[in-house]
Amino acid sequence: MKHNKKQNYSVNRLGRALINKHKPCLIWFTGLSGSGKSTIANLLEKELHKKQIHTYTLDGDNLRRGLNKDLLFTKEDRIENLRRTAEVAKLFIDAGLVVIAAFISPYNKIREDIKAIVGSDYYIEVFVNTPLEVCEQRDIKGLYKKARSGEIKNFTGISSPFENPISPTIEIKTLKETPEEAVSKILTLLENKL
Ligand code: PPS
Repeated sequence: MKHNKKQNYSVNRLGRALINKHKPCLIWFTGLSGSGKSTIANLLEKELHKKQIHTYTLDGDNLRRGLNKDLLFTKEDRIENLRRTAEVAKLFIDAGLVVIAAFISPYNKIREDIKAIVGSDYYIEVFVNTPLEVCEQRDIKGLYKKARSGEIKNFTGISSPFENPISPTIEIKTLKETPEEAVSKILTLLENKL
């Protein structure tokens, strides 16, 4: 028989937040490969760090080298990749951190699920909106070329879908905004939240 009654501990989320002097949350970046998610996430973390805010960044490429290394890019595996990541983010929120996550996260349903896992009050969605043609033209990692030739299967935007977020908290149009402007927009929103 499975015993999975929740154990309660005396030190809780609120207590940890009091020590940190700021509230925790999850800032979830979604967008195509090469859209600029990691660049903006990195700059945001640097700025928060300067303000003595405790952060941790979860990045798709990095988690797929460890916790999620058994997963590929089928729809099922992406869903599991993101479910595990959201559970980790929830633990880090409990620990009092401002969690930054940069994942393609291509489906509206899975983004809804992530929000439900961490709690809607803690979830900030940032859509890094860079047109596919631009990501493909930049092709920083050479993956679009491989996707076009069929060497990589299920590639987002080419042979696997990306559903544009319906109501992101913030949308960054990278053709019109610099990473610095994007970060300043996010910091303004966070001023009232943390
Ligand atoms: S997902 O859809 O959220 O589960 O993807 P994620 O965990 O963010 O991983 C995206 C990075 O994996 C590399 N890569 C691929 N992306 C999309 N489709 C396919 N088939 C694929 N194969 C490898 C790619 O480097 C992505 O990194 P970013 O930083 O997004 O460019």
